[in-house]
Amino acid sequence: MVMNSPILLIDNKKENYLYKEAMKTLRTNLQFCGKDIKTVLLTSCFPGEGKSDIAFHLAEELGKAGEKVLLLDADIRKSVYLTRYMVTNEVNGLSQYLSGQIKNIVEIIYPTNYEKMDIIFSGPAAPNPSELLGQPIFRKMMEQMRSYYDYIIVDTPPAGSLIDAAVVGRACDGALLVIESGKSSYRLEQKTKNQLEKSGCQILGAVLNKVDIRQNWYYGKYKSYEAYVKPKKGRT
Ligand SMILES: Nc1ncnc2c1ncn2[C@@H]1O[C@H](COP(=O)(O)OP(=O)(O)OP(=O)(O)O)[C@@H](O)[C@H]1O
Ligand SMILES: [Mg+2]
Repeated sequence: MVMNSPILLIDNKKENYLYKEAMKTLRTNLQFCGKDIKTVLLTSCFPGEGKSDIAFHLAEELGKAGEKVLLLDADIRKSVYLTRYMVTNEVNGLSQYLSGQIKNIVEIIYPTNYEKMDIIFSGPAAPNPSELLGQPIFRKMMEQMRSYYDYIIVDTPPAGSLIDAAVVGRACDGALLVIESGKSSYRLEQKTKNQLEKSGCQILGAVLNKVDIRQNWYYGKYKSYEAYVKPKKGRT
């Protein structure tokens, strides 16, 4: 079976040095989790906390570091990658593969203009995302993919109100919880963490995103990180 031809992804966002540095730290910390941690999902309690952005840039950094990486968009409800990265081609995606409309996995994998980074788009919105992701075919696909890639970074919808992330978690080695600074509470984050752990997915760590470094002198004093990252193996 012939692979899809490479797709051009254009990142229009102004590069932010502190954000980039934080992504490098996140990448390094993930690499220190060991070779058994290959499939990693990103989720958060609430919408808009920055999961999709971090998933993309983490995948980019892993690729740059020489790891063969797959960015998998498992947010079948609301995909942003096609518009955010100005993809104009007609592409196939995950929902079509999981629903059996596309039979061969290579038909949904696209090499990109980013070093060592392939992407699977979420595909057309389906009425039953959690059922699709819960099928054995998803787990099988993840198993198959892990022999081809060093890392598979999976973007999911918010776990606070939707079950998708926990369902995806059953097929992943670990999860990173994205927390927007000042948006959530200890109790809600704890609830999300427990829900993911119940699905059998260990929490590798949390990413504190959208930190206002002018207000948070503590972070500012240390590294002036806009996103402070601290993945940690085992319980957090
Ligand atoms: N560190 C940051 N600083 C400022 N803005 C950010 C940061 N990270 C993300 N954003 C912005 O926040 C918005 C939401 O980001 P993103 O789409 O990555 O979040 P999400 O958690 O994936 O959202 P959803 O739950 O809807 O999938 C985007 O407009 C993005 O540009
Ligand atoms: Mg998103």
